[in-house]
Amino acid sequence: MKVLVVGSGGREHALVWQLKQSPEVETVYCAPGNAGISADAECVPIGVGELEKLADFAAEHAVDLTVVGPEAPLCDGIVDCFRRRNLVVFGPDREAAQLEGSKDFAKSFMLKYGIPTAKAATFTAEAPAAEYVKKEFAAGAKGIVIKADGLAAGKGVLVADNEADALEFLAGCFHGTFGAAGAKVLVEECLVGEEASILALTDGNTIVPLVSSQDHKRVFDNDEGPNTGGMGAYSPAPVVTDAVWKKIDAEILQPFLRGIRAEKLNFRGVIFVGIMVVDGEPKVLEFNVRFGDPEIQPVMRRFEGDWFDVLKKTAEGRLAEAKLAWSEEPAVSVVLASGGYPGSYAKGYPISGLDEAAATGAVVFHAGTSFDKEGRIVNSGGRVLGVSARGRDIREAIQHAYEAVDKISFKDGFCRRDIGAKALKHLK
Ligand code: AMP
Ligand code: GLY
Repeated sequence: MKVLVVGSGGREHALVWQLKQSPEVETVYCAPGNAGISADAECVPIGVGELEKLADFAAEHAVDLTVVGPEAPLCDGIVDCFRRRNLVVFGPDREAAQLEGSKDFAKSFMLKYGIPTAKAATFTAEAPAAEYVKKEFAAGAKGIVIKADGLAAGKGVLVADNEADALEFLAGCFHGTFGAAGAKVLVEECLVGEEASILALTDGNTIVPLVSSQDHKRVFDNDEGPNTGGMGAYSPAPVVTDAVWKKIDAEILQPFLRGIRAEKLNFRGVIFVGIMVVDGEPKVLEFNVRFGDPEIQPVMRRFEGDWFDVLKKTAEGRLAEAKLAWSEEPAVSVVLASGGYPGSYAKGYPISGLDEAAATGAVVFHAGTSFDKEGRIVNSGGRVLGVSARGRDIREAIQHAYEAVDKISFKDGFCRRDIGAKALKHLK
């Protein structure tokens, strides 16, 4: 069997790494991939936005399954494009991808199907939105969340603890900071609790959650500094207790499945539900229609089974027949980033210690890496590597991950030193 993974980040590397272990898979292609992925897959120089070219490639190379990593091609209709040509593809179609592509669409869906979420109001003009923000603070709100409706590369959300910041961000939205994505804005109640990520496969007939995980969105230790794409993740997330899982299934995943069926949304992929657990009650912060990154890295480290078979059955509407098994061992993935990230950063610094890190038993997933003219692996993106390790318990997994991290270096590279610390708090 031949499989094509679309994307070039740590998520795609983790997917490639697990897919190539499938006994059925003879070739893994990745478009466009990165330096690390090229050790595990045949990289193809086609960009994630070149939908027809990707479909041509899949057709010409008799690819049996295409797995789409990032949200942008999904929202642009890559699945529609592949299905028109009878190519098997994992992901929601363009209409269903609006669950991530439009926060207003997602919020209406949640309300219609009774999925617990933060109270919100949608605005298409600045003055009434500002009025609403002022009213909320006057009524005693401790914070407010402003969200640009469309895709804004993870930058379209502000959690504000004061009116001035909220109003400034709002003005930015309506004055083009996020282009068309900010023409519509959601103003949302601020939920206070602990976040977790729930990834669930669905083919529209059934829904099957993967193991829970937790991201670390802020750039610095103790959740300080600006938001990033994610600085590290671990699985499982102890905040998702058995009691919370029951609620997630009954109040979120089953209503989600009912909703996509009732709305006739064509969804054969993964729904990534960002939740906030507030006093033991899971509430949805957002939907994404693709695997979370870095969350999928520790999740892939724990998967035991045939990942190709699972994804292919999902794409073919036969998810009920798929078998998922998981290691009991927790896994941790620590992200190494370029100095300056999430702001601007310099590229092209050689990375040393990758083999030494792998020799510890950790798996190093590559995100922003490429080869320089001399063939050395250098940093070429904000998030550069995801160093993933397992352990008998979370404490040991953290120790193993940092042991490997400490073998690696590149100029100005940095990481958070407290990935997994929240899980340890639950042990006390
Ligand atoms: P989103 O893109 O909607 O996930 O928002 C990005 C991040 O903002 C989330 O992962 C949370 O950390 C935070 N966030 C979003 N919505 C809320 C909310 N209603 N209350 C508190 N924090 C939120
Ligand atoms: N780690 C969060 C995301 O993938 O959006």
